[in-house]
Amino acid sequence: RFAPVILAGGSGTRFWPRSRKAKAKQVLALDGQRTMIQQTLDRLLPLADASDVWVITNDLLDDVIGEQLPEVPRERILSEPAARNTAPACALAAFLLERTAPETVIGIFPSDHAIKDTARFAEVVRAGVALAASGDKVVVLGVPPARAETGYGYIELGGVVDDPAVADSGIEVRRVKRFTEKPDRARAEEFVASGNYAWNGGIFLWSARTLAGAIREFRPAMAPLLEKIAAAYGTAEFERVFAEEYPQCENISIDYAVLEPRSAKGEMNSGIYCLPGDFAWNDLGCWSALHEHVAACPPDMVSIANVIDGQDPLTISIDSCGNYVYAPGKVIALVGVSDLVVVQTGDALLITTRERSQDVGKVVAELKTKG
Ligand code: GDD
Ligand code: MG
Repeated sequence: RFAPVILAGGSGTRFWPRSRKAKAKQVLALDGQRTMIQQTLDRLLPLADASDVWVITNDLLDDVIGEQLPEVPRERILSEPAARNTAPACALAAFLLERTAPETVIGIFPSDHAIKDTARFAEVVRAGVALAASGDKVVVLGVPPARAETGYGYIELGGVVDDPAVADSGIEVRRVKRFTEKPDRARAEEFVASGNYAWNGGIFLWSARTLAGAIREFRPAMAPLLEKIAAAYGTAEFERVFAEEYPQCENISIDYAVLEPRSAKGEMNSGIYCLPGDFAWNDLGCWSALHEHVAACPPDMVSIANVIDGQDPLTISIDSCGNYVYAPGKVIALVGVSDLVVVQTGDALLITTRERSQDVGKVVAELKTKG
């Protein structure tokens, strides 16, 4: 059995002013008609039943997610009483499933990715599920790195494995030598130059038993809290126990909590395997990433409010290039400007450059201090 777990509790502040607390980027249609979380589910439906999907989010987003994903049973859309980053969210799914079906393969899927080759995605994930089902294994997807990005995790690739679980798929399985989450610039450059590293695609596959076991091993303080919550699931006590125990979990991402320490056991002992994330993957982290992604999409994929100069016949673009403008319902004219990001919503206007769009999160931080 395969249970996809969609993580959707992030805040997406770098997409301000479109992304707001109650309308974070995962519930926005950034690159077409379907929202990010709808596209995440669409990609999974060839592989799993919607009734086997879990969504872990918060109570500002759960209603809108429920509306956007009517196929997912409402009791499987869980709202964290407090955001504790991705490790407790992943672990919660593991402890819940371990009680009833410990061999279930859990797939962790972020809800902020754009993936163009969805057929290849399905092929690779299908092989990953088979591999993860065949023992105490952790399967990660390694994306060929395009630049020395410091916002990702890096996977140092080890030897090629001939695993019978995926022999028929023709997909190459590599061992993992070492996992390094968010290295500094110098190390990222070194990693990319060496040619032996992949970006961590943020997608993980492992049985409920393996994931729960890894939490007990590397994050022992978290385990009893999650065990209590899992034991209360489906009872009248659940909300109370969830609210009491979950906020006590360590605030840490799954990468730091489990992948880095487990990978330190070394290539032959960690049981971490990497499959190729070669399906035109893009983490839509900020406006410039969205610009890059949308500019490469066929025009019919581009929702008409996302204007890339030259692609939309309603825009007037004179001696301008590389701009991203979002201003629905407006006639847009660009004259002699380049590499700008301009985003207008009902009550806010953002003007920045593509180069600085990583810093938009600081706007949200500053707005918070102003109440
Ligand atoms: N439920 C819940 N609770 N979800 C969360 C929380 C939380 O507290 N925090 C983040 N998420 C969700 C986000 O909405 C997103 O879908 C996913 O978990 C990943 O979190 P990010 O905050 O976007 O992680 P990241 O991009 O910094 O890093 C991860 O992804 C990279 C690739 O996109 C890491 O796994 C990196 O190693 C990886 O390269
Ligand atoms: Mg991300």
